[in-house]
Amino acid sequence: MWPYPKIVAHRGGGSLAPENTLAAIQCGLDYGFRAVEFDVMLSKDGIPVLMHDPEFGRTIAGQGNVASTLAAELLNKDAGSWFDTRFSHVRVPTYEEVFVFCQSHQIWMNVEIKPAPGFEEQTGKVVASLTQQLMRELGDQAIPPLFSSFSFAALRSAKEQAPEIARGYLLDEYEATWLTSLTDLGAIALHTNQRHLTQAWAAQIKNAAFGLFCYTVNSPERASEILKWGVDGFCTDRIDLIAANFAD
Ligand code: G3P
Ligand code: MG
Repeated sequence: MWPYPKIVAHRGGGSLAPENTLAAIQCGLDYGFRAVEFDVMLSKDGIPVLMHDPEFGRTIAGQGNVASTLAAELLNKDAGSWFDTRFSHVRVPTYEEVFVFCQSHQIWMNVEIKPAPGFEEQTGKVVASLTQQLMRELGDQAIPPLFSSFSFAALRSAKEQAPEIARGYLLDEYEATWLTSLTDLGAIALHTNQRHLTQAWAAQIKNAAFGLFCYTVNSPERASEILKWGVDGFCTDRIDLIAANFAD
């Protein structure tokens, strides 16, 4: 079950722009991508923002962490200079502004709920609640997003808040309990690291009638191989190498 795009730009614009920013999503759009994956975390005051790392230091200069910083301060942070000085004007976006941007440009979203440690349930609930509200405001025209998370607790909480928003469970490696987890979460898909996916596991997932999504596929050869195994979709950093309409 995978009623979604097959090829998805990872973290907005893959390796071509600073991750998890509007500039990245615009870059993906410039390359023809109308499908995007990004990461969402809560600020200290519970505002969902696009961010991968709970700690500053990589994409945000300095010391500190997202869960201890107010949104007003976070949104002023330079989220582009680490990548290239051309992007020094780029700031941390809120999930809400990204959601509105994507909907207005007909971009499908895989919203990865990425809680800072200790904030799993709260993050799932807040992201689901805001998404629910924004979807209701848009009405029939809205493109339904897909939530995903490595955090079982975050997805369970998202399910309680907004059962109507589809969920995919993220696993880095094979876990014997994968089917039970998907069933408990009412998930429609398993999202897994392409490095650890085997043809046998792919067959089990497809035989159980779940969607199968992989991260992060950066070579056309590997893309062709896993698509032949029944993989329904994947995200890529190489939006310059693997086109949005890539066919196996
Ligand atoms: O959602 C797939 C992928 O983004 C998971 O890994 O670390 O890039 O968020 P990461
Ligand atoms: Mg991610």
